[in-house]
Amino acid sequence: MNVAVLASGNGSNFEAIVKYFKKNRTNNVNLKFLIVDKKTAFARVRAKRLKVKDIFVDPKNFKTKLAFEKAIVKKLKLEKIDLVVLAGYMRILSPYFLKEFKNKVLNIHPALLPAFKGDRAIRDAFKSGAKVTGVTVHFVDEKVDHGPIILQLSVQIKNNDTLITLEKKIHKVEHKLYPEAIKLFCDAKLSLKGGVVKVGK
Ligand code: GRF
Repeated sequence: MNVAVLASGNGSNFEAIVKYFKKNRTNNVNLKFLIVDKKTAFARVRAKRLKVKDIFVDPKNFKTKLAFEKAIVKKLKLEKIDLVVLAGYMRILSPYFLKEFKNKVLNIHPALLPAFKGDRAIRDAFKSGAKVTGVTVHFVDEKVDHGPIILQLSVQIKNNDTLITLEKKIHKVEHKLYPEAIKLFCDAKLSLKGGVVKVGK
């Protein structure tokens, strides 16, 4: 299975994914490249370190979102990508993109969806007084932070947690959960029926 990662920023999930699949070579996952939409994304530095090809597609070079996405889709198709992994990719994919890669786009969210959607999920959970939050890996559909849930893991919010310690705990869980979900997809162990994912054969 050919996999591509799309990121915009830090890229710690990208790095965790690369490392996992370098270590577990027996599986059928071939991580082809990283695509970023930001020139200065730290994910690119990680890609160079990890010797993974990185491609910067500059949105400024395109008149429309559709043209930008078409350029990305072209690259993905050229390399016969089977799975697109969003890892801190800060753009909403259009119906066009999602049709081209139907049920082949994954995302990770730092909360237990459907709770705490949005780009401040860890902070929102922390401020809410919730005692449990977590991480979700899901298929991407046309709504934001929405789509069939693949895996979730909970993280407790303890009395002595600060936002910083909670963020650390969440990211640690993310780095474990995302490779697992990718492996399940690539091993054809996910089936999708009526918007619900079944894990396992
Ligand atoms: C992660 O917390 C992920 O859940 C969210 O964006 C963040 C990306 O972090 N979608 P990184 O760039 O992988 O370090």
